[in-house]
Amino acid sequence: MNVEDSRQMMGLLKLLGCNQVDDVYQADIVILNTCSIRAKAEHKIYSELGRLKRLKEDKDLIICVAGCVAEQEEKSIIKRFPFVDIVMGPDQVGFLPELVTSCLKDRDTPPKKTYRKTGFQLKDDYQFLHVMPEQKEVSVKAFVNIQKGCDNFCAYCIVPHVRGREASRPSTQIIDEIKSLTQLGVREVTLLGQNVNSYGLKENNDITFAQLLERIASQTELKRLRFATSHPRDVSDALIEQFASNPILAPHFHLPLQSGSDRILKLMNRGYTRKHYLTIVEKLKKQNSHLCFSTDLIVGFPSETNQEFEDTLSVMKDVNFVQTYSFIYSPRPHTSAARMPDDVLLKEKQMRLKRLQDLDSEITLKQNHSDVGTVRYVLVEAVQQENQKPFMGRTEHNKIVHFTSKNVYHPGDFARVTISQANPHSLFGE
Ligand code: 5AD
Ligand code: SF4
Repeated sequence: MNVEDSRQMMGLLKLLGCNQVDDVYQADIVILNTCSIRAKAEHKIYSELGRLKRLKEDKDLIICVAGCVAEQEEKSIIKRFPFVDIVMGPDQVGFLPELVTSCLKDRDTPPKKTYRKTGFQLKDDYQFLHVMPEQKEVSVKAFVNIQKGCDNFCAYCIVPHVRGREASRPSTQIIDEIKSLTQLGVREVTLLGQNVNSYGLKENNDITFAQLLERIASQTELKRLRFATSHPRDVSDALIEQFASNPILAPHFHLPLQSGSDRILKLMNRGYTRKHYLTIVEKLKKQNSHLCFSTDLIVGFPSETNQEFEDTLSVMKDVNFVQTYSFIYSPRPHTSAARMPDDVLLKEKQMRLKRLQDLDSEITLKQNHSDVGTVRYVLVEAVQQENQKPFMGRTEHNKIVHFTSKNVYHPGDFARVTISQANPHSLFGE
């Protein structure tokens, strides 16, 4: 999501006449688009700001801190890093051109000011940005925002506190954007939101997520559709049915589980049980036997016992996730979990994470081996003629494949590839 927000910021600055440069030393404006989901991401920003301070001593530079850390730490950023020129929260990206223009206008008139725009826009007033990429920036894949914010307040999560209330983008805007992207050569779109499967449920007059998927398939020329990320509680039967009937929906579902223990799920305020999660998985597999799953997992949530951690491993084995994103629990400000006594030792958390990641590697490799001999439908993303296996693309399950062919493929083409070899992180084929 931050990657897409950064692209939108870049697009807005281009309208002001700015160009993107590859090297921070060539830049006149530097934007740090920050993430505060875990403490580690937040701390990285502070060391980066230290480096930028030295750079700013040598050259005239506008420094903007954007994103979730800006929202969360506005006052402390201004106090600790007075050389920062702009602090802008994730709900206020549309104001970037205005902030930069004011900053440029006033920079020679002391005293130095910090331009700030944080806080949340009213849900009903929220305008989704619509910054189209230029033809030269377009690849075969694109992201499309369909929702902002989150109302779920999972006990560990800072997102609702820094990205504000959930709002869904009007479906007509989404479909128009996808139509324009396909005209530029985009073949695959990932719909983005914190909880996409609650799309439209909180608005009057618009369609549901399952209906949105259906309309994208029937009204646009898109070839492959994905979405991220979902909440197990909001997986409707209509959405499950889409995996059987929608011709462009990739058979890959990223469905964050977080924990396999019912007690921990309750403490996390997730609103489902392990059994409910497994039932959804079963129902989905019944609709489409090719469907694979990936997930997010947290280890070492306050009071998690070893047995409860084992419960998470056992769900991993039951579902056979093709990929897991796993994290050590990180206490975040404003969240309810931050007030729970965090009694799991860091060493223990690290050991649990290692065991989980070892199991994940084992399952992923086994899954990749089971692809050998099968034919996969691959969207070609890159061609490097000098390589032994010159074509690179991704399967329906989003796995990277390098392959050879006597045919010539270009990025954006689809190829049927017979998989001949499996590695931990990629496949080979022809
Ligand atoms: N600590 C660790 N992981 C977290 N996530 C969200 N908040 C935290 C936290 N405080 C993880 C969840 C979520 C993913 C995007 O980040 O697994 O699904
Ligand atoms: Fe955070 Fe996702 Fe829960 Fe929303 S649904 S609070 S973004 S973990």
